[in-house]
Amino acid sequence: MATILAIETSCDETAVAIVNKRKVLSSIVASQVDLHSIYGGVVPELASRQHLETINPCLKQAMAEAAVSWQELDAIAATCAPGLVGALLVGVSTAKTLAMVYDKPFLGIHHLEGHIYASYLSQPELQPPFICLLVSGGHTSMILVKDDFEYQMLGTTRDDAAGEAFDKVARLLDLGYPGGPIIDKLAESGNSQAFKLPQGRISLPEGGYHPYDSSFSGLKTAVLRLTQKLQTQGDIPVADIAASFQATVAKALTTRTIKCALDNRINVITVGGGVAANSELRKQLVNAAKSHNIQVYFPSLKFCTDNAAMIGCAASEHYERGDYSPLDLEVRSRMDITQVKQLYL
Ligand code: KG4
Ligand code: ZN
Repeated sequence: MATILAIETSCDETAVAIVNKRKVLSSIVASQVDLHSIYGGVVPELASRQHLETINPCLKQAMAEAAVSWQELDAIAATCAPGLVGALLVGVSTAKTLAMVYDKPFLGIHHLEGHIYASYLSQPELQPPFICLLVSGGHTSMILVKDDFEYQMLGTTRDDAAGEAFDKVARLLDLGYPGGPIIDKLAESGNSQAFKLPQGRISLPEGGYHPYDSSFSGLKTAVLRLTQKLQTQGDIPVADIAASFQATVAKALTTRTIKCALDNRINVITVGGGVAANSELRKQLVNAAKSHNIQVYFPSLKFCTDNAAMIGCAASEHYERGDYSPLDLEVRSRMDITQVKQLYL
């Protein structure tokens, strides 16, 4: 079975992992959160520089923890799209250099495919078809995984991604960055029924609503207006707002994902991306799925947010099929997941 070294540098995490199919031999994540938190979001130029500083120590640690030699590796993989171009370049250039020096195949991996494969790490028996709800700082997608590497995009966000909404609401409540984990924690002491907020449904010209698409910018504005109104009345009940906001996002995502699975006669749902770590989303989705006889799988918490183990897991599957990338493969800031086959020779 193939042993793959994988690198992830698409945003603000420098990550290196060694993966043997669906077994993680080591997974190192150097988060840049502290660096970016004072700016309230990721500063691309700072992210690339920090990746350059951190990548070699991460490589060393990943190799040491996995206790493998360079000769024992079968391939080198790196996230090549989508993401911040300068950040992606650090990981991809490192992977290509290692591939050349050690004469190994190089594989470029689509970041979202990595998030989908994160579920295989905790559920090795998982098999398509299934629906993946991919909710991160940059994406809110409902993807039908028809077969290995065969994807159909069934739903997306029209504006803010789910994680972005968490981050923006945390910023307007002055809670810090990244907002998701902070709101999740704060919501534990709040009343989720305290405020009724809009679920951000997309109206269709012919009437009714788009069943699977989301919009979170209206919800964010509603939280802003609510906060401004409450401010004039005295202390802001921050925990109640956080809990109500979180429950609304979880409800919106749960309703749409269950409907998507039922409409497409799919009885397995997986969740991926940073927001998959959200406790309320996990609770609501598990309960709703149970009542419809649908299986739902979440990655373990450490593989929800960006990491290289998920990239290695996806790379293992591609490697088994002989999917190698050319050494002049370019990084891309945007790329539709339905086009992943373009990454291989
Ligand atoms: O997947 P990820 O690490 O990076 C992207 O590919 O975007 O996701 C990061 C996002 C951030 O917006 C963060 O606030 C959110 O995931 N997040 C959460 C939680 N943990 C991280 N959102 C809600 N609840 C959480 N527990
Ligand atoms: Zn991600």
